[in-house]
Amino acid sequence: MKISIISTSVRIGRKSHWLALYFKKYIEDNKLADVRILDLMEYKFPLFDERLKFQETPDAKTKEFASEIVNSDGVIFVTPEYNGGYPASLKNAIDLLHAEWKRKPISLVSVSSGMFGGAQVTTSLLFTLWKIGAWVVPSPFPVPKVAENFNEKGEALDKEDADKRAKIFMDELLWYMEAGNRMKN
Ligand SMILES: Cc1cc2nc3c(=O)[nH]c(=O)nc-3n(C[C@H](O)[C@H](O)[C@H](O)COP(=O)(O)O)c2cc1C
Repeated sequence: MKISIISTSVRIGRKSHWLALYFKKYIEDNKLADVRILDLMEYKFPLFDERLKFQETPDAKTKEFASEIVNSDGVIFVTPEYNGGYPASLKNAIDLLHAEWKRKPISLVSVSSGMFGGAQVTTSLLFTLWKIGAWVVPSPFPVPKVAENFNEKGEALDKEDADKRAKIFMDELLWYMEAGNRMKN
């Protein structure tokens, strides 16, 4: 099975990316799935003026991003909390696609420097993901005070505690991925 982790902050000095690194390593170390990070900072997408299926000459990187989503059994969104919402870079990527998201198991990692771990991001993302027909896994991974809990290498300062939470989070995502695949067969 294949998991894509979308790292959505394109901010210089971003910290939520540390969680994308953490989950990539956790998934690899525990041999849970094939995993790759789709880094919106690396894609450097423009602000799209149309959805992919209506673009006349879509960029190769845009098409590659879409096929990564289609070929993923599950997706993890790693999103920072910006003013109680999610970043424009993520909305840009969500609105680019439509059928590609349908019934796709999506798990949410929300990251903030504040003490609530981006709880408001989850609320605002849930509605959008429901509207596009994604299958949101009801087991979020909120990360408060990110700099006090993780480092730039993607290491958790309290590994035992983080791995315990990651297991619960991943068990749920894997269940949805398997259930989704059974319905395809
Ligand atoms: C435009 C902007 C708005 C932000 N709003 C919030 C917020 O509402 N609540 C909060 O806890 N942190 C907020 N932060 C801090 C981020 O949570 C913090 O930068 C964190 O590291 C995740 O974002 P990053 O991946 O871009 O670093 C904000 C940061 C920016 C750049």
